[in-house]
Amino acid sequence: MKTLNHISIPHPFPYQGSKRGIAKYILPHFPSDVNCLIEPFCGASAITLSASAYGLIKKVIINDLNKPLMHLWQEILENPDNLMKQYEQLWHEQQIDKKAYFFKVREQFNETHQTHHLLYLLARIVKGSVRYSSSGSFNQSADNRRLGMRPNTMRKNIINVSSLLLGTTTLSSVDFSEVVKKAKENDLVYMDPPYQGTSFTRDHRYLNGLTYDNFVDVLKIMNEKNTSYIISYDGKTGEKSHGKSLPNFLSLKHLHINAGRSSQATLLGSNDETIESLYLSPALIDRLNDEEHFTPEIQQEMQQELMFA
Ligand SMILES: C[S@@+](CC[C@H](N)C(=O)[O-])C[C@H]1O[C@@H](n2cnc3c(N)ncnc32)[C@H](O)[C@@H]1O
Repeated sequence: MKTLNHISIPHPFPYQGSKRGIAKYILPHFPSDVNCLIEPFCGASAITLSASAYGLIKKVIINDLNKPLMHLWQEILENPDNLMKQYEQLWHEQQIDKKAYFFKVREQFNETHQTHHLLYLLARIVKGSVRYSSSGSFNQSADNRRLGMRPNTMRKNIINVSSLLLGTTTLSSVDFSEVVKKAKENDLVYMDPPYQGTSFTRDHRYLNGLTYDNFVDVLKIMNEKNTSYIISYDGKTGEKSHGKSLPNFLSLKHLHINAGRSSQATLLGSNDETIESLYLSPALIDRLNDEEHFTPEIQQEMQQELMFA
């Protein structure tokens, strides 16, 4: 029987929409024979990191349309010591005037797109919420109550992330529709696209968005190819639904996860509990039907949190 003991998962930087808090409800839907996990909308790659830490996958492809973010990932994996020295220097230099220093680094980042500047910005911005202007400049403000993750904590996290993923991970920065084409029979694609509630508004929380129709068209092709995939997709805060459900003709299994108040609720400015949708593809359901399932304890824990639609 599969079990998930509690282990600590390193995380590289704060990122709004990170699935860190609910990874434990997503991993139980992984089949036991995953060769490569593909995360086309990776952000802070919470699911990749959790699945790697639990030894559920052999290889990984992480991708995000945000190019500077993927350069940061490359540096985290290949050059963590150098990155940490640079972060440490920025973190200490900010002490004299943290407010002005943030603006200076943001300006430098917008000119040169250096990875350590991005790491510093991610550590300092309000709620880890990345925002770009329509002309592509990083324009989120700092949370001036905080100094950002302390260098020692950051170093421990980054070094652990690097040793967990180096050698098994391939990086790319293309549209999600390109990277899902790489999925083979034994692979699994985990998709966490930008929230519909934010991606089509003038409030650009994420770099670029995608349209609902475009997303559904790609899912149709993935179904035709029998690709196993999991999607985290919007949900409900209190009585309010966010975004449009995925269509029935895709024959997805629709589950609900109680994400508490921490992630999407904060993003949407509410105190209500958020119920996030999780969709499983038909090929994945077939694969899971042929497998052993989780221990009664895990099932019980999951049943408390998961309500089947
Ligand atoms: C909700 S966040 C993912 C958060 C991630 N699951 C985590 O744990 O941190 C969505 C991500 O999709 C990226 N994105 C938006 N449109 C995209 C596209 N068309 N192709 C690939 N990535 C895209 C954004 O830059 C953002 O990082």
